[in-house]
Amino acid sequence: MSQELLKLRELKQYFPVGKDKFVRAVDGVDLTINRGDVMGLVGESGSGKSTIAYTVMGMYRMTGGKIEFGGESFTRESRLHRSMQFRRDVQIVFQDPGSSLNPYQDVRSILSLPLKVHRVVPPNRIDDKILEILRMVELPPEFMYKSPNSIGGGEKQLVSIARALCCSPRFIILDEPTSSLDVSIQAKIINMLIKLHKEQKLTYMFITHDMGVMRNVSNRVAIMYLGKICEIAPTETFYAKPLHPYTQMLLSAIPVVSDEDEALKPRKVECVGEIPSPVNIPAGCSFNTRCPFKTDRCMRDDPRMKEIEPGHVVRCHLFDEGHGKA
Ligand SMILES: Nc1ncnc2c1ncn2[C@@H]1O[C@H](COP(=O)(O)OP(=O)(O)OP(=O)(O)O)[C@@H](O)[C@H]1O
Ligand SMILES: [Mg+2]
Repeated sequence: MSQELLKLRELKQYFPVGKDKFVRAVDGVDLTINRGDVMGLVGESGSGKSTIAYTVMGMYRMTGGKIEFGGESFTRESRLHRSMQFRRDVQIVFQDPGSSLNPYQDVRSILSLPLKVHRVVPPNRIDDKILEILRMVELPPEFMYKSPNSIGGGEKQLVSIARALCCSPRFIILDEPTSSLDVSIQAKIINMLIKLHKEQKLTYMFITHDMGVMRNVSNRVAIMYLGKICEIAPTETFYAKPLHPYTQMLLSAIPVVSDEDEALKPRKVECVGEIPSPVNIPAGCSFNTRCPFKTDRCMRDDPRMKEIEPGHVVRCHLFDEGHGKA
């Protein structure tokens, strides 16, 4: 059985904004997620993380490229079509459980819908199955009859996670699952997600702004900047040996409390310049307006992804052959 579960090939998602103008929200993304991975997808606001998630789910018709999942593949010609198998296997948990759960339904109705649509159990077993799923996310049985309006933010997110688990999925996209929650309950939700990953043999795409969370949760990391991935690495390598100037910039901006942690940080890379508008992405390397190491070539040619070590790829001219390493 192949190790690869989700493969994005040259994925593009452009949004029209006015005459002949496009936001290139996702602009040629290559990413492979293996079975059992927790792939952290990190990047500033507007870098295209959610757009990747929504395009994979079939919420947008992709502009170009290919999505492969478990033997199926989807292109622009597939439009929004996703097979029933894909709809069972691939689930998403959104950032804000408040707006993703219908406030007029109780938890029982919310969870019974996917169970009915996908005929997960016979109709007379639905309540038993709901109780089983609530147990998985450690919510008490009486939650069945509660409405999302009457429960807290963390509990709502647990209900969203329970809904994602209804069809025994293989892959879950978590789009900033804790960033709308109170800090005190973020850790509880993260721990629950880690537990479920192990127990249910899941694979995650974990979208986050929070480098600390990402370090605790993911085994691999992909960094996005203006619709493109600039570096992918195993989490440990990523912290020990970040290569792309943007990655170094992100890591050197994390506040630390001890001198030991400070000593472990990569060299300080100061951000220069401004973030370009996603409608007007600069020619050459899109990071060139902010990169302290840019050369003429960076203003002209868009770098390609290069594998520096097994599993560690970077998209930066500093790592081209013949160029002195950064
Ligand atoms: N439906 C849309 N129509 C037009 N532009 C869009 C649409 N959805 C997203 N965009 C634009 O695409 C870019 C990427 O947005 P996206 O929401 O994917 O970023 P993100 O990395 O998820 O950001 P955040 O961290 O704030 O959630 C942004 O410039 C955004 O304004
Ligand atoms: Mg987003």
